Amino acid sequence: MKSFFITTAIDYANGSPHLGHAYEKVLTDVIARFRRQMGDRVHFLTGTDEHGQKVQQSARKQGVEPQQFVDNISEEFRGLCKRLNISNDDFIRTTDERHKKVVRRILQQLFDKGEIYKADYKGFYSTRQEQFLQEKDRQPDGAWPEIYGEVVEITESNYFFKLGKYQQWLIDYLKANEDFVFPRYRQKQVLEFLKDPINDLCISRPKERLSWGIPLPFDENYVTYVWFDALINYYSAVEGTDWWPASFHVIGKDILVPAHAVYWPIMLKAADIPLPKALLAHGWWSVSGSKMSKSTGNVIKPLDFADQFGVDALRYFLIREMNVGQDSDFSPDQFLVRYTSELANNLGNLVNRTLNMTNRFAGGLVPEPAELDKPEQDLRALWDKTRDEVLQLCEGFQFHLGLERTFTFITATNAYIELRAPWKLGKSTEAKDQALLRTSLATMAEALRCAVGLLTAVMPETSQKIYGVLGYQPGSVWSDELVWGNKLVGKKVAETAILFPRPEKPATEKK
Ligand code: MSP
Repeated sequence: MKSFFITTAIDYANGSPHLGHAYEKVLTDVIARFRRQMGDRVHFLTGTDEHGQKVQQSARKQGVEPQQFVDNISEEFRGLCKRLNISNDDFIRTTDERHKKVVRRILQQLFDKGEIYKADYKGFYSTRQEQFLQEKDRQPDGAWPEIYGEVVEITESNYFFKLGKYQQWLIDYLKANEDFVFPRYRQKQVLEFLKDPINDLCISRPKERLSWGIPLPFDENYVTYVWFDALINYYSAVEGTDWWPASFHVIGKDILVPAHAVYWPIMLKAADIPLPKALLAHGWWSVSGSKMSKSTGNVIKPLDFADQFGVDALRYFLIREMNVGQDSDFSPDQFLVRYTSELANNLGNLVNRTLNMTNRFAGGLVPEPAELDKPEQDLRALWDKTRDEVLQLCEGFQFHLGLERTFTFITATNAYIELRAPWKLGKSTEAKDQALLRTSLATMAEALRCAVGLLTAVMPETSQKIYGVLGYQPGSVWSDELVWGNKLVGKKVAETAILFPRPEKPATEKK
């Protein structure tokens, strides 16, 4: 059995979850569910990133202790996972003792090996923002922007990790492992970044400036830089088990370089820990054409959509709309179009027709098909082709195309129903028509059952509902469910199913 350990980025615990967070969870969940279905032994980790300046500031603004602040936010992220039906096996918090212990041990180990040294850091510091600034932060006229308040040049002693020493090693590693970053063109961006010399990484912050962090084990006057702390979560969560190295870290494109593709492999290499097998960098969502931002007020609260349209409709949209790796736009109008035309009018319609006609013409029991004629054979052949293609697409993270093909098959099944017109056959008393009626009822039910097998990773709840109304309990071997085999004969179907009700009003107008 293949082991498959997959992670999401851990979310900053300084604000509520938004669409970007929801997408990454759903994408990773679909991959995890797909791998489980393919027979892998899967471990799925997610969590929250809870230390650092921003958290300390946000907590201060609310007048609460940082610990209490992150307890609340972390709970919100946990709630998001639950609501989105995310099948994570673990949820790590960087304030967990199990994590802090490993961070401190790795730091001590690197310090003992001479990979960490102390030096003076000289730079421009904004007291208002409590951060060091870089030349690129200046305005074109050379002045510092208002938001930084008074900017002073200071010298501060800090600890540095010898990143630069490993630059050539990393370049060689990436060249020898072309599949380290998915999509491949992003690996090229990493190599591009490595063309210029990289500096050693400042991994400490003096306690008087930032107290909310993990103290350095070899100097308690400092806390650990938040990225150095956060990246280790992937390892600290599974240390002592056989899950490491991870199969995939799923992250957004913004945190690929330098954090995941440069700092992380070098940290592991320096600590003699095996590297993760690959990184999957997904693109970003914009909303109705512009960047999601609190100031423009276009932050999509994913749960509003889940509440109004159902969790599976949201999961479906996110996976159907985004080509993994590229950017995409979330437009409530487009959401409604897909919801109505694909889910309600195509899939929902097929389910309802199947139930309806099986009840009307066969007493609610799926009949035995007679010999298959050309339209039935064609539909069955299309199924075999669809299944093989979709499996291959999912192996390559092309889930949006996998869904597209599956829905093409659903459309073809609806077209098959139109062609056979069971409502006409039902009026005839001729034996030949009655046989064809039974065949068409059996065929539509079996086509639906097969298609549902390809939807379970994306729409787990809806799939269970459809199996339920078909009077069917799928077996434990998923691949068997994808084989056309008249598995529904004799099953008693439900009267009706409400899967995708007409929305009352658009989610965006709900306030
Ligand atoms: N805490 C760091 C990650 C540390 S991992 C060791 C962080 N947190 S975050 O909350 O800002 O982002 C979490 C994830 O959400 C990242 O992978 C990020 O790319 C993703 N997204 C944030 N906004 C997004 C969109 N608008 N669209 C898609 N994903 C985006 O970075």
